[in-house]
Amino acid sequence: MEYKTIIVRIEEGIATLTLNRPEVLNALNDQVFNELADAASEMAADPTVRVVIITGGEKVFAAGADISQMATASAVDVMTSDKPSHRAFHLIETMPKPVIAAIAGYALGGGCELTLVADIRIAAENAQFGLPEIKLGILPGAGGTQRLPRLIGPGRAKELIFGGDFIKAEEALRIGLVNKVVPTNQLFEEAKKMAKRFCDRGTVALRLAKSAVNEGLRMDLEAGLQYEDKCFNLLFATEDQKEGMRAFLEKRPAKFQGR
Ligand code: CAA
Repeated sequence: MEYKTIIVRIEEGIATLTLNRPEVLNALNDQVFNELADAASEMAADPTVRVVIITGGEKVFAAGADISQMATASAVDVMTSDKPSHRAFHLIETMPKPVIAAIAGYALGGGCELTLVADIRIAAENAQFGLPEIKLGILPGAGGTQRLPRLIGPGRAKELIFGGDFIKAEEALRIGLVNKVVPTNQLFEEAKKMAKRFCDRGTVALRLAKSAVNEGLRMDLEAGLQYEDKCFNLLFATEDQKEGMRAFLEKRPAKFQGR
């Protein structure tokens, strides 16, 4: 597929989606969201892709939704929009493969919300996170008021949402918004190193483990445990499980086929 606002590269099982509108600090307009959605569908269906990395530039991940696109919109315009951001974020969040956000520079508004639909966030030392929508007279409308409190707790999330201020990478690490912070010039290598680790793991098991965590978070503990049990049982019907356990007993690395 042809993309204009993102760059898609697939190498050794790792697909990298790079936001590419540097002239507006990677502001996310409908075209970016549509291309992210298309790329997410494409990567989900491509059996050669095992892990996806989403990244931006060295100084800006994404400065949020495109304000020029929203500035004159009426409530009816917004209400009746098919919200490409929601579709893109849903497809990324439910991608049956690990998604790593590698973030350098600003990740603001919709840019910060995009990192929240990844499974894992790795921040460069120069990263800054924030939900400044409140300063524009709106609220984070691409999942920020829902996903952020689930990740870092309601108190900390409300402070970020109400204040609209930016926090640096170390603070993001302290409050659990990111998994790790790495030197800025090593960001992509670190993300790739982690992606490579996941590439060798049981393919179907990864898919169901992600589903067990994500679906389980929507359920009470008892329902979540039952869902986990179903996923666990199902894995015993896969060749991957037979191969994984046989390889352990034969003291060799497993070769998973995703079947
Ligand atoms: N939308 C549209 N254009 C944007 C943009 C955005 N979100 N962010 C930056 N730009 C544009 C600027 O207008 C500017 O364009 P011109 O050169 O034509 O003037 C260009 O990118 C460079 O930006 P700055 O001159 O502002 O760069 P800076 O280094 O001085 O500041 C910044 C950087 C702090 C990130 C600042 O640009 C900024 O605050 N941007 C807006 C951040 C924001 O409010 N994001 C939330 C958007 S709303 C949202 O995301 C809703 C949602 O929940 C989905």
